[in-house]
Parts: sequence; structure tokens; C-alpha cells
Amino acid sequence: MDAADLKWWQNTIAYEIYVKSFKDSDGDGIGDLNGITSELDHLKELGVGAVWLTPCYVSPQVDNGYDIADYYNIDSAYGTMEDMDRLIAEAKKRDIRIVMDLVFNHTSDENEWFKESRSGRDNDKSDWYIWADPKEDGSAPTNWRSIFGGSAWEYDKTRGQYYLHTFHRKQPDLNWENPKVRAAVTDVAKFWRDKGVGGFRMDAITYIKKPSEYKDGTPDASDGMTGIHPITANTPGILDFLHEFRSAVCEGYDIFTVGEADGITAQDLKYWVGEHGVFDMVFEFGLVNIDLPDPANWCDRRMWGLRELKAFFSESIREADAAGGWFPVFLENHDQPRSINHFMPESGSRDAKAKALATLLLTMRGTPFIMQGEELGFVNVDWSSIDEYDDIFTKNHYAFALEEGYTKEEAIESVRLFSRDSSRTPMQWDATENAGFTSGTPWLPVYPDYMAYNRRSEKEAADSILNYYIALARLRSGHKELIDGSYEEIMPEDESIFAFIRKDADRKAVVLINFKDEKVSYAPEYVKDAECIMSSTGSAQKGMLAPFEAVIYEEDII
Ligand code: NOJ
Repeated sequence: MDAADLKWWQNTIAYEIYVKSFKDSDGDGIGDLNGITSELDHLKELGVGAVWLTPCYVSPQVDNGYDIADYYNIDSAYGTMEDMDRLIAEAKKRDIRIVMDLVFNHTSDENEWFKESRSGRDNDKSDWYIWADPKEDGSAPTNWRSIFGGSAWEYDKTRGQYYLHTFHRKQPDLNWENPKVRAAVTDVAKFWRDKGVGGFRMDAITYIKKPSEYKDGTPDASDGMTGIHPITANTPGILDFLHEFRSAVCEGYDIFTVGEADGITAQDLKYWVGEHGVFDMVFEFGLVNIDLPDPANWCDRRMWGLRELKAFFSESIREADAAGGWFPVFLENHDQPRSINHFMPESGSRDAKAKALATLLLTMRGTPFIMQGEELGFVNVDWSSIDEYDDIFTKNHYAFALEEGYTKEEAIESVRLFSRDSSRTPMQWDATENAGFTSGTPWLPVYPDYMAYNRRSEKEAADSILNYYIALARLRSGHKELIDGSYEEIMPEDESIFAFIRKDADRKAVVLINFKDEKVSYAPEYVKDAECIMSSTGSAQKGMLAPFEAVIYEEDII
């Protein structure tokens, strides 16, 4: 396949913006759309062609916008619809397309749809959500635990029934069995599609189909409940809903979809992506959960090795390719720890680790998704008290950990490693107060390292993480095999080096990345006749990698 044959979204770099934390234009301490418009050139410089915005619709903000009260309007904290139109237009001038986050598993309980539904058992929307009668003793219909903790059912006095919420109690699940619900969410997607956005990220999409019977599960913790994830994720029949959505919204339009697909493995990809699939790409969870046997319990971690991490990529890329689909490459997002902390040892140079990961992100086969701040080398927050955290999931998890008998120290350590706040601290633009994010009080503290790690300072320092990202992005566009080339892992058994070949009809690139804080060697034959086109240290030596060094060699195919 030639890069020219690829679709625009396969050829580009995507960037995730956590709207609340990117750039505040009006001094209220909250990022907004005009702030994003003012910083589009930063994205352009990074070679970004698609910008995924976290939800900026009207919302009570219990889950920072993932609780939507009105899909057709912008939350006043973020701006107006005119601001959105201007952002879409200004982005387009720079060849950047906006990607909207569609949250269709649930709404806010403050959405008019839910208000009507909960007003009684006999109204037009009475079955737009998942309602169920109490058990005989009045307790919840089942013992399912929501993903954010606590029962997944909430009692409603007016109806005398419980409603289901996979996430927070203020995020009631929509009933996709009802064709009117499916039509309503399809209309929302068409509204945004017709505004000219470039695609959609489909939130929590694997949970939209519930099992036909609601039954108690075997308790998995001392609260007597069982996590909802295995019960409602990827339930048979889900694909019918999604095929319907795809043909109604996407067919015939030059947009892409990427599904957030917890519960989908590489083996499922043939049903989810490609010609016979339902999305263009899916975000799998295999990589980000590599250290958590049960992602609902951050205190119970497991050791993992580089071989597993490499196997995840090889398998998923192979299966996505076999399905005629495409792979979204990501190491971070707004729900995950920072990748330097997540995938690298604690010791060693932060900059070297960031550059190693950048090399992986931008040379792997697929569309890279950069999380804001990743290009500056952001690390996890290190707050010592749970009161300093904002995220509801983090707070609930901390309480859950204590109930389960973990010590305060263990609970706070798990939060330090996995809190979603780590990827949500304000973007660091310069070394002025509040890192240039806001002239007011930021809604979440700016990370104290902003004097050194900020866009302006990194732009000025030749060997910064940011300049390395920019150089890699430029390299990609000039070396097409890094975009359209096949992917072949080499040295899969090596526990220190992540190495692979990207090859098209004309050229072959060999990428070698050292994941260890020590010098390592490899067989120089792999790069014998090749020329070094990128080195994270600036002093590549064939057959040898410095701690966390990343190199790219290239040769023509004759
Ligand atoms: C996944 C989103 O990425 C996360 O931030 C959110 O809390 C849940 N879905 C619920 O919408």
C-alpha cells in the first residue's frame, strides 16, 4: 500500500485535547474553545491533522463533561457554538480537523431525556433508560458494582424503580434496545458530522448492549458486589447496533470513527474494524492494563516485561491489518497515567525516556494519538493527600481500597500510580505564573515543574522533548515507509530493546528503542548497510544503545 492510497486520518497524527486543561482564554481557570483556537499553531507544528476534543457539550461536569445534559450546545464554561464554528474553521485553514467525543452509553441525569424518563412510568421516554424493579426486599435488582465504585443501580422514588449506571450515579445508561434512542443518538452524530468535523471518538461504546437477563454475579470483593465490566462489555448483539450506526452516520462521508473499546482483544478486531467492522479504529485496553490484573483495583498490580508490551503491538497490528482495518497508536489518554511513569523504570533521565516513547508512538504502524502534554514530557502528579485530587473515580477508588483493607499508604500509592488527574493537569505554555494556562486560578493545580517543562522553553532548547517530537513528525512525513510500511517486530525475545522494521516497496526503516536505564547491545547486522536518520542522543553507534536511546536506520530496497 502506498501512503498516497491511505485516507487522510491514516496519514496524519492525532492529538487529544482535554478541553478543561488546555488553554483558558477568559481567566476563569477553565480551558475553553477560544483558548484552543489560539494555540492551533502548536498543533500544526507537531504535524497534527486531527484533534480529538473531550466533551465540551452542556454538562453539570460531574465527570468533566462525560455527563452530557445537552448534546446540541456548548457548555458556557467552554464557550459558545460560534466559538466552536470558529475553531472548526480555523483548524480547517491549517488542515486540521476536529474530532468530537460522542458519549452515547449514558447521558447526565440532568439531560431532558432523563428528566422526562424519570418523571413516571408512562411518558414518551419512559423506556429510554434501563429501569428495573427492586428485589423483593427493596434492594437493587442485582449486585453489580459500577466502574467508578458503589452499586450500579440508583433508586428513583417517583418511579419506584432503579436505573442502571455503568459509571457514576449521575450518568444513567441509555437503553439502546429502544429504536427511538438509537435514532436520537444517530441524529446527534449527524448534527456534528454536518458541521464539518473530521470524525468521532465513541466513548465507552462496548457497554451499550446489556445482557438479556439481569442476574447477580459472584461477589468479587468484601462489599458483596461484582464488577459490572465483564457483565456488560461486548455483549452479543452489540455489533448490530453499531453497524446500524455506521451506515446511518458514516457511510459516504470522509470522516473516521475510533471506538473506546474496553473488553475488546486483538482476536475481536475482525468484527470491529475494517470492511466488515463497525469503526475505523478501536482503542484496545490490553496495553494500558498491562500492570493491572483487575483494572478496577489499582492496589493489585503485577510485574510485566517488555516482551508482553511488544507482543501487544504485534498482535493488534497484525489483526487490524488482517481485517483491513487500522490501528490507533496511543500510550496515554485522559484516563491513564503518564507514559513515562507507566511504561518506563523509575530511574534514569526523564527526557531520554520521553524521547524513547515518542519514537515508539510516531513510528509504529497506525495513527499516533498524542495526549496533550505528552509532547512536553509530562509526568504523573505526586500529591500526598487524597483531598488534593479532583477526579471522582480516583476518590471512589481510594475509599474502595481502604474498605478492602489496604493501608492508607497503599491506597495513596495506587492513586499516585493510576489517578486520572495525572493526565489532566493544565497544559504548560510558558514559565510565567500558572504556566500561561490561565490568568485566573487553575481548576487543577499546575504541575510544579512548569518552569522547565513548558512549550516556550522547550521550543527554545534545541535538544528538548518537544523539538524531538517535531523532528520525528517531520521525519515521518518525509519517510513514507514510517506511515504506510508493513510492520515486522524483530528480536521479540529481547527484554530491553523494542525493535521493528517498517518497510514499503522502496525503503526499509529499522527502529530500535532501549527501554532500560543501561547500555545494551544488539546484532549490528540488522543495520549493516543502513544509514541513521534519527537518534535520540545524537550519537548513534551501530550495535549499541545508550540508556533509553532510540534510533532509526534506513536503507533503500534495491
Ligand atoms: C471513558 C472516558 O474516557 C472517561 O473519562 C469517562 O469517565 C468514562 N468513559 C465515562 O464516560
